[in-house]
Amino acid sequence: MKYRKLGRTGLSVSTICLGTMQFGWTAVEQEAHAILNRAVENGCNFIDTADIYSSWVEGNRGGESEIVIGNWLAGGSVRRQDVIIASKVRGKMGDGANDEGLSRQHIFNAIDDSLRRLQTEYIDLYQLHWPDLETPLEETLTALNDLVRMGKIRYIGCSNYPAWLMMKALSISDQNGLARFDSAQPHYNLVHREEFERELQPLCLDQGVGVIPYSPLAGGFLTGKYRRDGNVPNTPRAKGISGKYMNDAGFAAIDRLKMAAEERGATVAQMALAWVLGNTAVSSVIIGANSIIQLDETMQAASIELSDAEMGMLV
Ligand SMILES: NC(=O)c1ccc[n+]([C@@H]2O[C@H](COP(=O)([O-])OP(=O)(O)OC[C@H]3O[C@@H](n4cnc5c(N)ncnc54)[C@H](OP(=O)(O)O)[C@@H]3O)[C@@H](O)[C@H]2O)c1
Repeated sequence: MKYRKLGRTGLSVSTICLGTMQFGWTAVEQEAHAILNRAVENGCNFIDTADIYSSWVEGNRGGESEIVIGNWLAGGSVRRQDVIIASKVRGKMGDGANDEGLSRQHIFNAIDDSLRRLQTEYIDLYQLHWPDLETPLEETLTALNDLVRMGKIRYIGCSNYPAWLMMKALSISDQNGLARFDSAQPHYNLVHREEFERELQPLCLDQGVGVIPYSPLAGGFLTGKYRRDGNVPNTPRAKGISGKYMNDAGFAAIDRLKMAAEERGATVAQMALAWVLGNTAVSSVIIGANSIIQLDETMQAASIELSDAEMGMLV
């Protein structure tokens, strides 16, 4: 495993971050604990979750992923200080008027709920899941700054923020001496580039904000298992992923990955992850895994360093 600093902070994170959106959805608790154990055994020290994971599953209420991670932490297979736990706030966690959003009120309630579910006294990286344009940024950033002071969170970040809003927030933090975003979590992969590359990437490089892209395999498409002949895996996500990526541009990317992977003796998925990690703005990629087999394959991407020629050939 390799480690990089998260943006301009002194925090070292593994270049592979384990995403846990599938815990309580497509990976049950026992499998999830096995995946967490294997990730840590292989040097992963970075785990990403969110309060709303996985509220979209029938019968769930949200918080399921944090509960699974909390039970794992409490089981003692890892020392708390050896893992960086990243969670998120913003989504709807109840039916009350203040059970969602980025108000001081909701953030103060949400952090305590997350800490309880995670069975921990602090969250290493607390991220705003997506913008709340109805709440002043000053209110949100002051609330986060207070949580840092209280020791409930250590670093803050944002996800799905457009560049203009992120720059506005960084500027408010700097002008008022508040904690500032140290990370950005955008949607980024070989077939979904513009949203990040056009404005957010230069901003993050300029401001020293660490980038931790999500869906680096385009939800599984960039493993090569979605086929031109229409063959798709039998998974709950397959319909959405095939509708989005099974087109000429998507399959052309798979062809390029296959060619580069053959030359390297690597797999298509490993090359897709190595390509994201080849971006100098990126601190760590957030992968998803439903099984140890998937994880064992993708974690090996951490050891692949692509040359400039390979990086160029893949786009
Ligand atoms: N901030 C946000 O708004 C946001 C949004 C989405 C995700 N995230 C975070 O990012 C994490 C990763 O997102 P993602 O799941 O979309 O990432 P991804 O790495 O693009 O896709 C992961 C999926 O690809 C398939 N896969 C992974 N390894 C494989 C292998 N070796 N062989 C074959 N198939 C493989 C699995 O799906 P199948 O088994 O179903 O094929 C797996 O669930 C999430 O868990 C979450 O923490 C954040």
